[in-house]
Amino acid sequence: MTERCQGDTRPRTGPRARTAIVLAAAALLAATSAAFLPGTASAGTTLGASAAEKGRYFGTAVAASRLSDGNYTTILNREFNSVTPENEMKIDATEPQQGRFSYGAAEQIVNHARSRGMSVRGHTLAWHSQQPPWMESMSGSALRSAMLNHVTQVATHFRGQVVAWDVVNEAFEDGTSGARRNSNLQRTGNDWIEAAFRAARAADPNAKLCYNDYNTDNWTHAKTQAVYNMVRDFKSRGVPIDCVGFQSHFNNDSPYVSNYRTTLSSFAALGVDVQVTELDIQGASAATYRSVVEDCLAVARCNGITVWGIRDSDSWRASQTPLLFNSSGQKKAAYDAVLAALNNGTTPTDPPTTPPTTPPTTPPGGSCTATLQDSTRWGDRFNSQVTVSGASNWTVVVAVTPPQKVSNTWNGTPTWDSSGNVMTMRSNGSGNVFGFTTMANGTWTRPVVRSCTVS
Ligand code: XIL
Repeated sequence: MTERCQGDTRPRTGPRARTAIVLAAAALLAATSAAFLPGTASAGTTLGASAAEKGRYFGTAVAASRLSDGNYTTILNREFNSVTPENEMKIDATEPQQGRFSYGAAEQIVNHARSRGMSVRGHTLAWHSQQPPWMESMSGSALRSAMLNHVTQVATHFRGQVVAWDVVNEAFEDGTSGARRNSNLQRTGNDWIEAAFRAARAADPNAKLCYNDYNTDNWTHAKTQAVYNMVRDFKSRGVPIDCVGFQSHFNNDSPYVSNYRTTLSSFAALGVDVQVTELDIQGASAATYRSVVEDCLAVARCNGITVWGIRDSDSWRASQTPLLFNSSGQKKAAYDAVLAALNNGTTPTDPPTTPPTTPPTTPPGGSCTATLQDSTRWGDRFNSQVTVSGASNWTVVVAVTPPQKVSNTWNGTPTWDSSGNVMTMRSNGSGNVFGFTTMANGTWTRPVVRSCTVS
């Protein structure tokens, strides 16, 4: 997809209103269930499709050097609908010499992803690590300006192509201090993080801006609390932050803990989206993977999960065999657990608002028929499901009403007209039911099927 908005501005509900709303919701659901039930016909086939049916994405880190490996790209293209360049957007890759920007490898990944309907997370604009030598040796106001220039240049270059940026990565110390990490960037002044966020917002106003870190999973840890306090402070002062990324590299030294869900929901309650950004689990316990997915699905503002590589052999910690596919590209038990958790997962429990009242549209087109039905609806977005009959090699054109934007699709390959409002979806071998998520942006008009043709 070309545009993806990961925002979730669902209104919060106070406890006093809850009982009445639950009763009203139950009545409304009973009255409208035929048009309103979440679609299930196409659930369960791939990570990306199953996550999309829950209004989420499922992504992976991608290395440009592996895009020529057919086994790798087969899995990538089949399973994932979001991509994070593993190293190609880092400072040393994009500005190897000061003022000389280099985007080739990053663009290779961006083009691969976007041409296949996957969204891109940008990683990362400001970080103490993987700095080019010229930046490592800088300090003070010169470094501050160089950092801000880097943020501006790179975010501007990828404007409109990256749905979310890790603006600042790993700025806090491990251990019990709760302090900022002592880095050359930190020594330019404590306000360097908010300065980076402001520069990123100015450069790409539509991208979601995230703070990203590791060892922030355990709600009781000082580092988690320190990041939480920073985000709360930023929200209270209007620093432009939209999301917090939890890397979630789980291993024996830093294991998954059951209060992870509390961590995700506590951050979300500050008014930011939360995302699992670099998931890997030493030994790939199926139960732990399942817990992580269930925790994300339990938090309405947890809008996506990214694993940090595809096959174990692609992992930065290959010896821990921490991923969902083995080194030959076969699905592991953890894969089955993740897929099942995505398919069984509950959808957010907000009361549904009035669904569209027009009946399903069934326009004829060529020698196939496409029928659009409403599926799950959230406070800011809704899913639609299109069932095609009469052809397996179909092309269906669907239009949404501006300012709506399609933010996610599954079980088809989409292309877009220049307005971004008309989507041409082609069959990709995933069957005859495809779906998509529309960000309402205040307009709840049902998308319209314009044509169905055999391609
Ligand atoms: C890692 C990459 O996976 C490696 O290929 C590279 O050598 C080092 O960086 N936190 C992050 C990621 O934010 O960028 C890191 O990625 C893993 C830890």
